[in-house]
Amino acid sequence: MKSILTCQGITKSYGSGDIIENVLKQVDLEFFEGQASVLIGPSGSGKTTLLSILGCLLAPSEGQLLIADQSVNFFDKSSLTEVRRQKLGFIFQHAQLLPFLTIEENLAIVGRNAGMNDADIKQRLDNLLQRLELQAMRYKHPNQLSGGQRQRVAIARALLHRPSIVLADEPTAALDWLTGKTVVELLLEQARLEKAVLVVVTHDTRMLPLFDRILSIADGLLSEQQQTAIADNTFYTQT
Ligand SMILES: Nc1ncnc2c1ncn2[C@@H]1O[C@H](COP(=O)(O)OP(=O)(O)O)[C@@H](O)[C@H]1O
Ligand SMILES: [Mg+2]
Repeated sequence: MKSILTCQGITKSYGSGDIIENVLKQVDLEFFEGQASVLIGPSGSGKTTLLSILGCLLAPSEGQLLIADQSVNFFDKSSLTEVRRQKLGFIFQHAQLLPFLTIEENLAIVGRNAGMNDADIKQRLDNLLQRLELQAMRYKHPNQLSGGQRQRVAIARALLHRPSIVLADEPTAALDWLTGKTVVELLLEQARLEKAVLVVVTHDTRMLPLFDRILSIADGLLSEQQQTAIADNTFYTQT
């Protein structure tokens, strides 16, 4: 299996002087091609912090982040932007589409930022809009779509430039259970098709059986849980 993303001894502290909060303590993790992980933990346990570090949006206090075996620790700001534009796709709680652009234009920007040519962007757009059943939305604006449709556009946007890593922070928190489940199933199916590493933060324990790996943070420590232990819900509590 090809290693895509590695954390070595990742620590993150906020604050200074006497008021230091150690949010992540020595997190070691390796993600392989096509692997889908879910990240759980109580509110304030550091899920968004870890996802932000994995996405090169936030620098760790200590430790190394490797993308495709290359350390990004000493990359400057513009190199990190380039890594994000080429290799990463993000999905947030709200789709955060640009309101004044059509769905097609919202998607095309990602391709242009990644340096794809127009023909490639068009082909990719056609393909993703079809896969996510969004053809009818192509020339609409975000405010003409439902929450679930907007999250489907967010999936297309996260995948458009063929990133090797897709990170989603509570992508279904604003949706009802059934719509949310459909969105996560689509995200999993599409990320697997693309062989991307997928990491999804969720509060919804009903989603856990859908994933290959279950990662849990508490008190700054990361642990991995087995699907079978989760199934009978014996040791897992959630806020
Ligand atoms: N920019 C920041 N400055 C200071 N403290 C922060 C910052 N971001 C997050 N924190 C703190 O770090 C802890 C973890 O936050 P976060 O990663 O957002 O948790 P989660 O996503 O699991 O709810 C919280 O106690 C939060 O208050
Ligand atoms: Mg969070």
